[in-house]
Amino acid sequence: MNRIFSGVQPTGNLHLGNYLGAIRNWVELQHSYNCIFCVVDLHAITVPQKPEELVQATREVTAAYIACGIDPKKSIIFPQSAVSIHAELSWILGCHTPLGWLNRMTQFKEKTGKHADKASLGLYGYPVLMAADILGYRATHVPVGEDQKQHLELARDIAGAFNRFYNQDYFPLPEPLIQGPATRIMSLRDGTKKMSKSEESDYSRINLTDNAEAIELKFRKAKSDALPTITYEPEKRHETANLINIYAALSGNSREKIVEEFGDKNFSAFKKALAELAIFFVPSRRLMIRVAGP
Ligand code: TYM
Repeated sequence: MNRIFSGVQPTGNLHLGNYLGAIRNWVELQHSYNCIFCVVDLHAITVPQKPEELVQATREVTAAYIACGIDPKKSIIFPQSAVSIHAELSWILGCHTPLGWLNRMTQFKEKTGKHADKASLGLYGYPVLMAADILGYRATHVPVGEDQKQHLELARDIAGAFNRFYNQDYFPLPEPLIQGPATRIMSLRDGTKKMSKSEESDYSRINLTDNAEAIELKFRKAKSDALPTITYEPEKRHETANLINIYAALSGNSREKIVEEFGDKNFSAFKKALAELAIFFVPSRRLMIRVAGP
């Protein structure tokens, strides 16, 4: 059977982007693949973390996986730092990764901006550790959001370089699975920026732990444009397109059907319906379980 590997960093709250872009798809994939879902705490320490908070966040992400529907009887769930092969293989693969390949990584450039010299070697080598995660288990498929596409292409390149060097098909080339209308959920405050854990304003994202009032308020305050009708024009109407994509992912309806249903209604009616859907589907209540300490 084909094997899946994927992971989430235990930094900050999980948000609707993590859920719709990744975790919700994993729940379905459990039925047709052998699945390994990791909480990637070694990736988290590529930027400074407080040790106690990292331990707690690792437990909380693990609880979130289960609350979202990952079945620990079906799938393997574990923290990355518990298995030493990730760090060990990362070193070996790093010896087969030309610097030129790493210099192309847009996420590193975005994260460091003009201060790349101050970034750690760990942050620079982040995609090599990600390749080690995947190749260490000879995973064949990797379900992620759109933002991880370039890292997965690099993982394939590294696997190919390793196989050529040792002249054997040692690692399968992992296939990215980037599926559905929600592969890139944008900020609720700025439709040109990705929804992320690190954006300062909490109004930019729906956290999986948000209660119904918070979800309703955040969608009500979500940025939209001044046009009277609702149309899907992702090149021009970024915020509106994002809300339609979220609605499509939560409801399972096509964008065309959504535009047909809400096209001539006003934004407040659409946002209200969207909030109701999110309150129903986002697994916040199940996440209220207290995560016990060690
Ligand atoms: P992380 O923790 O940033 O994100 C976890 C998953 O959520 C997806 N995602 C989104 N999808 C749609 N819209 C968004 N706004 C959005 N934000 C995040 C991400 O694409 C990802 O699938 N490097 C990875 C973690 C990782 C990993 C791996 C993934 C480490 N090793 C091996 C797969 C295989 C990351 O930073 O995820």
